[in-house]
Amino acid sequence: MTGPQGNVTRSVGDAQCRIENPGGYRRVVVTQDLPGRRWLDELAAADCRVEVCVEYRPLDAASIRELIGSRCDGVIGQLTEPWSEALLRALRDAGGAAYSNFAVGYDNVDVVAATALGIPVGNTPGVLTETTAEMAVALTFAAARRIVEGSHYMAEGQFAGWLPTLFLGQRLYGGTLGIVGAGRIGSAYARMLVEGHKMDLVYFGPHVNADLEGFMADYAAFLAARGERPVACRRAATLEELLATADVVSIHAALNDQTHHLIDAKRLAQMKDDAILINASRGPLVDEAALVEHCRAHPEFRAGLDVFEREPATAPGLLELPNVVAVPHLGSATGWTREGMAALAACNVAAILRGWPVWPSSDIMPFLAPGAPAAAPSIVNARELGLPMFDELGTTTR
Ligand code: DGY
Repeated sequence: MTGPQGNVTRSVGDAQCRIENPGGYRRVVVTQDLPGRRWLDELAAADCRVEVCVEYRPLDAASIRELIGSRCDGVIGQLTEPWSEALLRALRDAGGAAYSNFAVGYDNVDVVAATALGIPVGNTPGVLTETTAEMAVALTFAAARRIVEGSHYMAEGQFAGWLPTLFLGQRLYGGTLGIVGAGRIGSAYARMLVEGHKMDLVYFGPHVNADLEGFMADYAAFLAARGERPVACRRAATLEELLATADVVSIHAALNDQTHHLIDAKRLAQMKDDAILINASRGPLVDEAALVEHCRAHPEFRAGLDVFEREPATAPGLLELPNVVAVPHLGSATGWTREGMAALAACNVAAILRGWPVWPSSDIMPFLAPGAPAAAPSIVNARELGLPMFDELGTTTR
């Protein structure tokens, strides 16, 4: 069938698909349309016919199973999809040899099952680090300076003139920032607030972040040399210590069994009454019902949320709270980043299908430039599967 834009289309169950590169030998399913064209070029270069689901809604497991059908070489899927053992098995049984999430997080994928089934699982790190950190910064300021409350007030025509006590918020400059999880995004967020707003940093995580600590020491020396107050940095021994000290607590940890409800009623109570809680990582890290109760009981406490415990649902009452700012999981939502994520996801699938090795570095920028390496940029179970690494083969760029 030919669609309104002249594309070949096909219905699969209740979903409509656009077919790209219809003559391609391999069949790759993409469960949501992605931005840009570069990702399609990568898949076409790997001789893939690409079936792109053009439904503008998250798909359930049954619909994805129908899309996979009886023959499918690879899939690019979404963080909203339950890539359980059963779904991965359906992919493997259809001849599937590669899966990539269109996300850096992959808590929706049963990676242990994928490894047991021999399916490499890709993700899209690197291109969304600063973009997601910027969203966390935006939420921090929106919460601290009551931007959404003020905007509603204006839109409602309530502004009757400047007043000394109108929407008093929190000053961030020189305060203490707490980050829970000091990986790529957490560190980028910390640097933005430390460099811009001279905040002291306390971080909590399983490992010492020597790079972040080195940056903080260098920046402190730079400030001191200019006669300004040097910033301080320390790694908290316990989460409780961080919660008790920080004016702003931002969560940047991965979701797993250990971090589910990391911030619950007890931990909220350990925070300052006028603290700001930011979550742009994964919703279930915070007990959302407990957060609603806490925000009700502590009107000076504020939360900035990009993610929710049961997306797209939110806990009853959450969105009515004046001290909560909420946006619909937009952390990585810039054109540049989403096109980069699409390119990385396509490179992951295309490279595995072509038998190429895996890129060994966390610097994936070479994949966004012309002459990208002949490698899969990021395969999270590469070592467990014993996949060859780019360096080991001495492979050159294409
Ligand atoms: C991710 O990549 O994990 C984000 O949640 C969406 O970009």
